[in-house]
Amino acid sequence: MTIQTPTSELNPLGDVSGAQAAAVPPLDVAALSSLANQFFATLPTSIVPGGLPAGLSHLGGPSQLGTPPQPPEPVLALGARGPALAPAAQTQTGVPEKAADSAQAPRAREGIAQNVPEAYAAALPVVGVPEARGYVTEHAPATPPSSPYYFLGESSSYPASSDVNVPGEDRVLARSFGLPGEDELRALLTDIPAGKNAPAKEQGNGFYFTDLNRPANEKSGSDVRPPFDVSTVRRDFPILQERVNGKPLVWFDNAATTQKPQAVIDRLAYFYAHENSNIHRAAHELAARATDAYEAARDKVRRFLGASSTEEIIFVRGATEAINLVAKTWGVQNIGEGDEIVVSNLEHHANIVPWQQLAAEKGARLRVIPVDDSGQILLEEYRKLLNDKTRIVSITQVSNALGTVTPVKEIVALAHAAGAKALVDGAQSVSHMRVNVQALDADFFVFSGHKIFGPTGIGVVYGKRDILENTQPWQGGGNMIADVTFERTLYQAPPNRFEAGTGNIADAVGLGAALDYVERIGLENIARYEHDLLAYATQGLRTIPGLRLIGTAAEKASVLSFVLQGFTTVEVGQALNREGIAVRAGHHCAQPILRRFGLEATVRPSLAFYNTCEEVDRLVSVVHRLATSRR
Ligand code: ALA
Repeated sequence: MTIQTPTSELNPLGDVSGAQAAAVPPLDVAALSSLANQFFATLPTSIVPGGLPAGLSHLGGPSQLGTPPQPPEPVLALGARGPALAPAAQTQTGVPEKAADSAQAPRAREGIAQNVPEAYAAALPVVGVPEARGYVTEHAPATPPSSPYYFLGESSSYPASSDVNVPGEDRVLARSFGLPGEDELRALLTDIPAGKNAPAKEQGNGFYFTDLNRPANEKSGSDVRPPFDVSTVRRDFPILQERVNGKPLVWFDNAATTQKPQAVIDRLAYFYAHENSNIHRAAHELAARATDAYEAARDKVRRFLGASSTEEIIFVRGATEAINLVAKTWGVQNIGEGDEIVVSNLEHHANIVPWQQLAAEKGARLRVIPVDDSGQILLEEYRKLLNDKTRIVSITQVSNALGTVTPVKEIVALAHAAGAKALVDGAQSVSHMRVNVQALDADFFVFSGHKIFGPTGIGVVYGKRDILENTQPWQGGGNMIADVTFERTLYQAPPNRFEAGTGNIADAVGLGAALDYVERIGLENIARYEHDLLAYATQGLRTIPGLRLIGTAAEKASVLSFVLQGFTTVEVGQALNREGIAVRAGHHCAQPILRRFGLEATVRPSLAFYNTCEEVDRLVSVVHRLATSRR
């Protein structure tokens, strides 16, 4: 289709002939702008002072025509942009109706934040995240940070983050909000003999469920944290307004991928609108902006993981590519015939297959840490596997199939005591708990951006600097070289040595925005809220006849794997989908751990901090109805 306008100067869509131009009325830019302003002024969303929402400045307007693109203005927009949550549904399960999260029915329970967006926003620590619609932000420093690359003093006009104070813990201390289900859960845990479902050392240490045993009056002043209001948070995620099969979408497939906040969507759009270029390569302004945006994202990852240097942060496609990179570089270099590689029974295929391939290539042996009936690592069995042939222990921090939180700190320490290196797969952990790679002492740590509210196709390898410096590259090509002749090639230092070719620049920048977003909400807030939601959902599912929960470790992140007697997992998944509820049904790319429980597949709802008790009620209600339909 040809789009016609008489004023090609003002028309970004194409040029036209004079005859065509005569056939259409002249474009009145002022009138168009005024109409646009009226339209957007009626939206319950953020409006920049110039009249158009940030991110829509390309539509033009009297104040912006002829001026270079400007970064979005800071706005306060935590108001009523998102969906009003349905009032708490009556369930058919006997699960008590919870206090609603909806604006129509503000929470009455003590200790739970009211729906006061401004108060919520004001209470959040300002960390200088990108100025995007829906966020209260601090302006970037007046003096742009200097670039370590070709353009000293040049930088992206997108605001940079200031430092975030990241505590040096490797896990957050989860505190309860007191949601429904907590008392029942405490009673359930009381029935579990100490040491049966978790290593004895970790009982009562304040993590997850175990913290429920702590009386409220023992909580100190430092436990008082900014309130968390789920209905406010939900407004940041436009996709949560979708309807599926006529029902509001319930996204319970967070272990597969997470949804993206507007801040990330805006950041990607801003990159392509104002910064897009290849990096490190050209003497022009956009190369400077793109390079600075990319390297700023690397620094956000460094800070998020508690790494000491950006040279320890390598961008890859995701956790799968990350583990492959380590196996095919460090592994090829350091593992030989007769050597041993240790993984656990819980691993995702991405943390099995690359090591299996390496073992086959080198004549090495793969050894597997078993788990108990709750799905927790048997530390004593692990100790027995370690010996002077062990070269690396590669272990997940959270099981994607069961939700088990493994004692990675102990596992890494024991690997080191045996003279082995340790890789921690954080694909399922980073969105649920604070990670500090230095506190963990991990030699390698990997994660995927899309599981932490960032884009797909971007992930990270953290590697200790001295290890990376002594590790050969994997792929060869541009970007990773210092000098090339036909006789030999000199490589760059890490991290560039491991980033051959043009990387996923925009999505690295988007990942940086996602990490800023998560920091703004606060991992401690996220962990506490998810802990309570998991308790509530566990309690609800336990009421369903014929339902068997798979993965009942005392320390769990928010995954609820189950099978339902008389139904295939696909049947359950389809029944849920008919009600707009998305879960994964299948083997979750973790066949060995499901087979440990005699299964080929489970239904796996997995929760994030934007999920609600009402959504859990809907899940429980549908599964309960299904369970009782054939009785
Ligand atoms: N690893 C992803 C999952 O657990 C795909 O679903």
